[in-house]
Amino acid sequence: MNDLKWTRKDLLGLRDLSKEEIALILETAKSFQEISLRPVKKVPALRGKTVANLFFEPSTRTRISFELAEKRLSADSLHVTASTSSMVKGETLKDTARNIESLKVDVVVMRHPSSGAPHRLADQLKASVINAGDGINEHPTQALIDMFTILEKKEKIKGVKVTFVGDILHSRVARSNIWGLTKLGAEVTVCGPRTLLPPHVERLGVQVTTDLKEAVKSADVINLLRIQLERQKESFFPSIREYATAYQINRDILKNAKGDVLIMHPGPVNRGIEITSEVVDGPSSVILDQVTNGLAVRMAVLYLLSGSAHEGEKEE
Ligand code: CP
Repeated sequence: MNDLKWTRKDLLGLRDLSKEEIALILETAKSFQEISLRPVKKVPALRGKTVANLFFEPSTRTRISFELAEKRLSADSLHVTASTSSMVKGETLKDTARNIESLKVDVVVMRHPSSGAPHRLADQLKASVINAGDGINEHPTQALIDMFTILEKKEKIKGVKVTFVGDILHSRVARSNIWGLTKLGAEVTVCGPRTLLPPHVERLGVQVTTDLKEAVKSADVINLLRIQLERQKESFFPSIREYATAYQINRDILKNAKGDVLIMHPGPVNRGIEITSEVVDGPSSVILDQVTNGLAVRMAVLYLLSGSAHEGEKEE
């Protein structure tokens, strides 16, 4: 067991974290996993703490997972979305933050379309800030979920071959996973059309290929990324149909993969584009396990950042 104590105010990305800090979050998540199996799925660990969820970009999984994690930990929660906040009336992020601060909020969970927005908020607030996805920069809790799921299914991360397929260029999930997985000793490959691979991505310690068959062959885990059309200001390939022909994960391409390969996807899934329905719902898919594990991981992150771990409040 890691004897490290959590000392950071914020969780903004896995780029910043040491491998010991990542391991501490994963170990803490493991200890929270069984709470969801109890008849009464609630502990008083964050009783008296207030969490503000600021979602300035659409989200299903991350938003409901944080909301449920807060309920399970007995925190008081506030929920603000872009369309219901005064930012539509021209209020700045800084003023929004100052108003939140005045309500004595302990933790702010923030999703924002601009890379770096949670970092700016963290500089201005005494409250802890958790990055729930910022632009194309990072999505640290999703990567922690992905690592937790690999650890659960493969019983290790070091030496595991993880291949990301799809729109690596616009993917904050890929970026956070690359930082986290390489720190924990996984062997990471990225695969996609050349135009969707970030320039010099190999400098992050990953293998790079445009050949899907080759990428699939040696993988223990294939983590699929959707084409993020909302972040693309120009066309990166001729058509969705051509993309799917070359890079879709389907039953045929999986004939080249290991028998025990895990299929992962952070969601939302675009069935029939990056992955077929038969693979989403097939025996190798752990996509819904990722969603289940999201709860334990987000409970762990909220617990560590709220300072409750130091206050000895994780009561039975
Ligand atoms: N994985 C993920 O971030 O999904 P949402 O956009 O639905 O939160």
